[in-house]
Amino acid sequence: MTHPDWRQIQRDHLFFTWTRQAASNGWEIDAAEGARFHVPGRGWIWDLESQVYNVNAGHNHPHIKRRMVDQINELPAAAPGAVLPIRATLAEKLVTHTGLERAFLTTGGSEAVENAIKIARLFTGRRKILARRHSYHGATFATLAIGGDARKDPFVADLSPSYHIDDPYPLPPRGDGPSAWLASVQRLVAREGPDTIAAILLEGLTGTNGVQIPPDDFWPGVRQLCDEHRILLIDDEIFSGFGRTGRWFACEHWQVRPDIMVIGKGLTSGYAPLAGVMVNREISEYFVDQTLWCGLTHYAHPVSCAAAVGAVEVLEHDKLVENAASVGQHLFARVAALRDDAVIGAHLVDVRGRGLMLAVEFDRAAESLVARLWARNVYCPARTRTLFLCPPLCLTRHQADQVADLLVDAAREEFASG
Ligand SMILES: Cc1ncc(COP(=O)(O)O)c(C=O)c1O
Repeated sequence: MTHPDWRQIQRDHLFFTWTRQAASNGWEIDAAEGARFHVPGRGWIWDLESQVYNVNAGHNHPHIKRRMVDQINELPAAAPGAVLPIRATLAEKLVTHTGLERAFLTTGGSEAVENAIKIARLFTGRRKILARRHSYHGATFATLAIGGDARKDPFVADLSPSYHIDDPYPLPPRGDGPSAWLASVQRLVAREGPDTIAAILLEGLTGTNGVQIPPDDFWPGVRQLCDEHRILLIDDEIFSGFGRTGRWFACEHWQVRPDIMVIGKGLTSGYAPLAGVMVNREISEYFVDQTLWCGLTHYAHPVSCAAAVGAVEVLEHDKLVENAASVGQHLFARVAALRDDAVIGAHLVDVRGRGLMLAVEFDRAAESLVARLWARNVYCPARTRTLFLCPPLCLTRHQADQVADLLVDAAREEFASG
């Protein structure tokens, strides 16, 4: 019996995100395991995007599924105000890993950033939110306005003003004073007036806007500036959190603790929708007697909480954060070695990142290289000239070598003609 043409039905009746519908190239997936997914009639594909930077714990993990099924059997639906063991269990885990005090749990990342903004405004009584020019914090009106990503362009006439830190990359040569990034944020705070600024919002490590490694003085300098002026530091770890960079959260690379942290994606490893806002003790205590004007129907959904507990347990038990650090370092070294490759070297502009959050920039649009990788059963996301290597964190060293070999092969073919 032939099965219906799911691809055609979906193309006819469901929208694909961020694309002209005629240009969508969604493929059917019928299975996934570890660091790969399976496309019928095609085979097993290396997933270097982890299903939109989501599946940190790896595909089809039995422990996460068991946690979810147990919760479905026990209680699959409950109002936000209900006390549930699975919610309390998750809260304790989040406090342990972030070092912060209390969580507000939402469905998706953009909503979480919006709620972080609301919390910062309620707590400080101030309005402005500063962010980096090369940043993405979500696709709602408020979050598009704050970030610098080009996805805001069609709506720009309707958006509130943004306050952007200049973050040139490659980093300009450094003199005796602060780096260009830190000097920019210092100027911006002085120009706007510290008393008007509720928060500075930064991605732990910038995702689709380029994975630029900030100058050493940036995070500590921003922390100091925030402390001096009682501005809140909000760390958006939606992309970079839950082990992606080889630490639980990317801000740990700079030994900085934010006042508010936004989490999502890897929180449940994509097994169910959940994101959240973590706040420090002072903010947590402020809302003991003040109303928290935030709430959503699906707040802390029980099955999503179970997925999150399961995913965090897998990261802990399988030591995937440590694995991301060591396998990431190996993959980085393999790709960086291409600088000396007779065919590819001249076209390789930069390799950067931490853990399994790597960006590889070439001197031309990455589109045809992405197609060559796909022909070798590697799905690799790209933006303009940059490839992103962000596989599930269970990728082994041996698998990293397989992926690197396929990348070398595809790149040699791509650049063979100069
Ligand atoms: C850093 C960052 N913030 C916010 C978001 C928005 O999250 P969501 O797509 O879950 O709304 C994303 C999504 O890619 C992100 O990478």
